[in-house]
Amino acid sequence: MTKKNKFRSSNWYNSKDHKRDTFVHRGWMRNQGHPNHLFDGRPVIGICNTWSELTPCNGHFREIAESVKKGVYEAGGFPLEFPVFSASESNLRPTAMLFRNLASMDVEEAIRGNPIDGVVLLMGCDKTTPSLLMGAASVDLPTIGVSGGPMLNGHHRGETIGSGTGVWRLDADLSAGKITEDDFIEAEISMSRSKGNCMTMGTASTMGSMVEALGMSLPHNAAIPAVDARRYSLAYMSGKRIVDMVKENLIMSKIVNKKSFENAIKVNGAIGGSTNAVIHLAAIAGRLEIDLKLSDWEKCGKDIPTLVNLQPSGKYLMEDFYYAGGVPVVIKRLIEKNLLNNDSLTANGKTIFENNKNAKCWNDDVIKNFEKPLVNDGGIKILRGNIAPDGAIIKPSAATPELMKHKGKAVVFESVEEFHEKIDDPNLDVDQNSILVLKNCGPKGYPGMAEVGNMRLPQKLLKRGIKDMIRISDARMSGTAYGTVILHTAPEAAIKGPLAAVQNNDMIEIDVERGTMNVLLDDSIIKSRLKNYEPILPEIKSGYQKMYIDHVTQADTGADLDFLVGKRGSEVKRHSH
Ligand code: FES
Repeated sequence: MTKKNKFRSSNWYNSKDHKRDTFVHRGWMRNQGHPNHLFDGRPVIGICNTWSELTPCNGHFREIAESVKKGVYEAGGFPLEFPVFSASESNLRPTAMLFRNLASMDVEEAIRGNPIDGVVLLMGCDKTTPSLLMGAASVDLPTIGVSGGPMLNGHHRGETIGSGTGVWRLDADLSAGKITEDDFIEAEISMSRSKGNCMTMGTASTMGSMVEALGMSLPHNAAIPAVDARRYSLAYMSGKRIVDMVKENLIMSKIVNKKSFENAIKVNGAIGGSTNAVIHLAAIAGRLEIDLKLSDWEKCGKDIPTLVNLQPSGKYLMEDFYYAGGVPVVIKRLIEKNLLNNDSLTANGKTIFENNKNAKCWNDDVIKNFEKPLVNDGGIKILRGNIAPDGAIIKPSAATPELMKHKGKAVVFESVEEFHEKIDDPNLDVDQNSILVLKNCGPKGYPGMAEVGNMRLPQKLLKRGIKDMIRISDARMSGTAYGTVILHTAPEAAIKGPLAAVQNNDMIEIDVERGTMNVLLDDSIIKSRLKNYEPILPEIKSGYQKMYIDHVTQADTGADLDFLVGKRGSEVKRHSH
């Protein structure tokens, strides 16, 4: 095979059979000043960019893209940056999750439809990471991830404050009358004082760590701060590496397999990662046609201690995590206990073992060891029972140990609107042993499965100093949130899952260690209540949201659209010039 016909992009730029097509494809590109020799059959590298001023966590991505380009040029490739839908966690309403699948479609079609041989995914804010991985997985070209990196630690009035986690605390303090509205506003810029994504171990940093654990990036991808020169060096080296990945035909499915997902689940437990990882990893696996189930979280997450002492489970922030050694140290500690699949391949062509075996820890309080972990049994736990036949999840490292086994009276809210209306009603029949239950906030019910599962506690209990209660819903919660919060209950109430049958004053029994969650009712009562149950469904008759509601799958299978699951490859069958 000659150099000119070696790569996919040659079908656009070097076709001998379709000279007119070639003229159009090359000629129009030349208007950007690209010299002729860049079209000589060298690897064309797409830089898939989620930059947007409306996604502040990714606001520095044009600069990161420039570093990637330098690396691509140095390795003899031709970099071309392109924008895709950028799902901003902080701005998009009703919830960014509603648009994760839409963004993944954009990514998939943009990669497949263009003359791209390999792709660099620039991702950061929560949903931008899974949406890019999902879209790229369905095409399955050589692919490398570059995260944008976390913000520097927040500093406010002599204390460090973490993105999200600090907001929940400040909000509770405001509700309890401990701080003023002005104090609350002053904390904003103190928290978000540099470029980058949330610097707690929220969903963004968790997903950055998952990218690293899956082998989809160079080591240290997750933790280098967004403004640290080493972030730009990593981007440069990733640009250099993707050119070789194209030459080696190292496509995404050669790196990511079931064993890499097992590694990622274990790393998630050890970092005290976000509950959202459960849903995103399921969706990414679905695109790669890998059978990843909630039972894999049970199997692989079992007995994994949380080592990383970061908010919301612990004390520190991502900047501290990087200086302590970052994800490589966590991986090394898992390797030392024989807990990882050591031979899993990574983007640099080495195994996860080779990359991380010599990692050094520089601060044992930030990254603890197995002998003195932050939480002994920290992985995500799966609960099942007559409320959640297809499962629900809880993150024990962010919960109150005393509530891990509990029986309490349900206080039910049929919708998030009803919750807001009633939660601070002084006459609400609730005490600290009650269990708050929120319905109709699942994938179809909200729609988009909002991050409302960490319901605020009633003001009257907050004022009495109550800090945590059990909360159950079919919603998600922010990765930066904490508390004894049971999420993703499946099937959801809006499709008459049994959560819908729970009513005020029903007794609910939870046992996290045994993995059970039941309402103490006869099956016949549950059935008859469900028969008469009227779900509160969103009134959406057209547009993307209608398609989403009609096709979204349940939380336990990743909440992808049913027709997007699987690989569709990179071949384009027809073209038009
Ligand atoms: Fe973007 Fe948290 S809001 S990462």
